[in-house]
Amino acid sequence: MRFQLPVTKSDSDDWRSRAIDVIPGGSSTGSKRPDALYGTRSADAGVPTHYERAEGCTIWAPDGRRFVDCGMALGSVGIGYADAEVTRAVSAAAAAGSVSSLPHKLEVQVAEQLVEIIPSAEQVRFLRTGAEATTAAVRIARTATSRSHIIASGYFGWLDWCSHAVGVPATTQHDITNIPFDDVAELETAVTQHAHQLAAIIIEPLVHHVASKAWLTAARDAANRTGAVLIFDEIKTAFRVRTGGVQELHDVLPDLTTLGKALANGYPLSAVVGRASIMQCVNDTWISSTAAAETTGLAAAKAVIGWHQRVDVPERMAFAGGKLMEVIGNALASAPWVGVQADGPPMMWRLTSEIPESLDALVVAAARNGVLLKRGAYQFGAVAHDLAAIDRIAKALPNITNSLRPGPRLTSSLNG
Ligand SMILES: Cc1ncc(COP(=O)(O)O)c(C=O)c1O
Repeated sequence: MRFQLPVTKSDSDDWRSRAIDVIPGGSSTGSKRPDALYGTRSADAGVPTHYERAEGCTIWAPDGRRFVDCGMALGSVGIGYADAEVTRAVSAAAAAGSVSSLPHKLEVQVAEQLVEIIPSAEQVRFLRTGAEATTAAVRIARTATSRSHIIASGYFGWLDWCSHAVGVPATTQHDITNIPFDDVAELETAVTQHAHQLAAIIIEPLVHHVASKAWLTAARDAANRTGAVLIFDEIKTAFRVRTGGVQELHDVLPDLTTLGKALANGYPLSAVVGRASIMQCVNDTWISSTAAAETTGLAAAKAVIGWHQRVDVPERMAFAGGKLMEVIGNALASAPWVGVQADGPPMMWRLTSEIPESLDALVVAAARNGVLLKRGAYQFGAVAHDLAAIDRIAKALPNITNSLRPGPRLTSSLNG
């Protein structure tokens, strides 16, 4: 018997409530849930919760309204949505059979390219998500050292080893010590406390600002001293701050590095790369996934690497992100009633406020005027943020800030 779809529901354009009915929270990606997008204002009318098409830095909602996007899919898209070159490469990979019972030669080619690009890379293992890559790196470190404790600074994904969420066994949480970003003294204290059981120090080398060379060097020295593995999580920073990541900028090399996000312009691909002597420990444990090296992600990464070979992509991201921060930051500075500031490095900056509701109100006002700002995370500059997009945002800003001004409101909107 065929399924009868409920006609009224499938005809409804209320994607927010339809999503909440069938997907807990409304989205399978936590940061894309309506609550995460708009905070206390998530039920407001007129804010988009779903999209139908994305191209460059523009997103079209199912009702046809278009938005300039500043979040770029949580930084996973560094070139632009539906970039022609990436799309061509992915389509060709799909047409050629994106999986088989053998690994594809692209796995070898892209691994060779990453060994060229990432300063500390001698060998590579591919996975699909960032969380898988960080988990693999930690597993490799534990295998290499026969120790269990992890000192960590940053966000590494949702999996158990690094999570303090409800549902994670307390015993798992005992094996990790979280330390603050860029604080040498706290790092040294944690290392002294756990030296004999220390498997790895894993750090994100950029949180609000690029880590100091002193902190990265202290982590490198501590790992050398204790025999622990030093891991840089460059999932947000490689192919962005520099093509080779923060390690290229500061010249402090980790043993292992995790990659993801902008590596494949939004296609699901991540990697753990590092020194061959440590990467070889993969053979002493078990790290594997059926779809790890499916070729659409690899083809996307190869196309992204092609972009980086021809164009100074990090420079373009910094230029575009800097322009976005300047235009939006200046508008916010001249509208103090909004109560929100813009700051951070140009290629990935944040909106901050003492009052969370102010940020929620700004994000809602921006969306109503055709601009998608990311609440509680970074705004990412991408190659696709051209001057026309920045101009569109600049033109929307007076309406956005004025709509938040106590008193009479402007109502015109850029949305067509
Ligand atoms: C630094 C860092 N590591 C790991 C992750 C987890 O990646 P994913 O969400 O692809 O699992 C993220 C995601 O935001 C991240 O920013």
